[in-house]
Amino acid sequence: MRPQPMDAAEATPGPQGTAAGAGLVVVANRLPVSLETDGTDGGRRWRRSPGGLVNALEPFLRTHRGAWVGWTGTAADDTTPAHAWHHDELLLYPVALTADEVDGFYEGFSNATLWPLYHDVIMPPRYRRSWWDAYVHVNRKFAQATADISGHGATVWVQDYQLQLVPAMLRQLRPDLRIGFFLHIPFPPVELFMQVPWRTELVRGLLGADLIGFHRPGGARNFQWLARRLAGVRVERAVSDVGDDPGLLSVAEPTARRGVKVGAFPISIDAAGLDRLARRADVRTRAEQIRAELGNPRKIVLGVDRLDYTKGIDIRLRALHELLTEGRVSADSTTMVQIATPSRERVEHYLRMREDIERTVGRINGEFGRVGRPAVHYLHTSVGREELAALYRAADVMLVTPLRDGMNLVAKEYVACRYDLQGALVLSEFAGAAAELTSAYQVNPYHLEEVKSGLEQALSVTPDEAGRRMSALREQVLTHDVGHWAQSFLSALGDRPPAEEPVRRTA
Ligand code: ADP
Ligand code: G6P
Repeated sequence: MRPQPMDAAEATPGPQGTAAGAGLVVVANRLPVSLETDGTDGGRRWRRSPGGLVNALEPFLRTHRGAWVGWTGTAADDTTPAHAWHHDELLLYPVALTADEVDGFYEGFSNATLWPLYHDVIMPPRYRRSWWDAYVHVNRKFAQATADISGHGATVWVQDYQLQLVPAMLRQLRPDLRIGFFLHIPFPPVELFMQVPWRTELVRGLLGADLIGFHRPGGARNFQWLARRLAGVRVERAVSDVGDDPGLLSVAEPTARRGVKVGAFPISIDAAGLDRLARRADVRTRAEQIRAELGNPRKIVLGVDRLDYTKGIDIRLRALHELLTEGRVSADSTTMVQIATPSRERVEHYLRMREDIERTVGRINGEFGRVGRPAVHYLHTSVGREELAALYRAADVMLVTPLRDGMNLVAKEYVACRYDLQGALVLSEFAGAAAELTSAYQVNPYHLEEVKSGLEQALSVTPDEAGRRMSALREQVLTHDVGHWAQSFLSALGDRPPAEEPVRRTA
């Protein structure tokens, strides 16, 4: 099967602009578009950036005409823009990173220290002083760039684990700003967080925000505990499990106490937009074409992920392999498609994982494929939104099996595309989405037999049962979309914490 790739022209930068004086500013490690080198002609192209953060935030921010501060995704050279430019309804403001900064800040501390640590140490995190120094330095660059462009009293929304020091740095530079922070990945158990040599600095960095958001109340509670233990904050109101009701911490600053809210805000997707896309005639036709290109198998099983070791791609392949070996699934009637976006390819853990996955795919196809009819179609590429919607529409079973995931938007996207109330979702209980998508076939990804039987049940679901489950899933996803998420975060942020009160010093 030949997927329709992402349209590079979609992401071409618009006219130059000035971001100074912006009233709503999103700060994220990546801009919503990234500069990539094309493998075929070596030319540079702008493409939509990978990952859930961009896909969730971009539609929201576009309708609010905000500014976006971020990195272009590649080490700075002569082709890197130095000024803001317009992209759809957004104003993008680039932060240039040198090759050494990319190495220490992005590949090092962000993705070889924090990423594995925050994902339950699935891989061992590495602690290196030079990476930490780069992290501090680059966070300061982001804080300075944001301070330069934000209008007086602007709302600044800092995103994700790469920028945890920005809130405090920005508050020092611009005390007039209203600062929110949202963590898109899980916040780890306290015992794991305590490993970090710079744990107090990270907690103090986050405490610079007026509101700190997590996906799950458990993450917010872990943070609250650590803030008390490491930064001596007072808990005025504890984090609750209920909706968007944030807890309140009180932080002693040199001259006054300041309130910091902490709460759970589960992120979502542009559900109505995806539902509309999936209903389009061209997308429906493409879904039929995909089935035909795959040889019209009775069942199509789909996986769509960034190629990341947290996603459990190896586990689902192993589950399929065993089911085929045991004769519980037949390669004559069932075909799997795995679309994997290239990700963090210079980080060692990712290199090894890619080799493992590709070896497993080769093994399954060697044992169970036929000429022109592989059992697993593995594509190491990113596809466009239409193609993705068509794939979701074509898939009888969606496999989402992360060992740990902050939310997992793919699971919600699949549900949003199944307006026909068919299809079945197999979902890891360690994805944040599992708390909301309770009608999925939930499995423990560490328990291979459970993954196998979840897949087997999903493959043999009756249309009535599929309809019952999908209706319940859609009810949740369509009523809790990304607009709801952003509004609830921003209104909790707008509703400023209590006014400063003098510090009461204890003798
Ligand atoms: P993460 O943010 O860790 O990558 P999520 O599941 O939350 O995980 O979000 C992934 C986002 O990237 C989703 O919006 C999904 O549609 C998109 N995506 C993942 N893989 C691909 C792919 N191969 N091609 C296009 N989009 C992809
Ligand atoms: C996850 C992270 C994002 C990140 C994305 C893509 O969604 O939460 O912060 O941008 O993955 O990863 P990358 O390293 O390519 O930016």
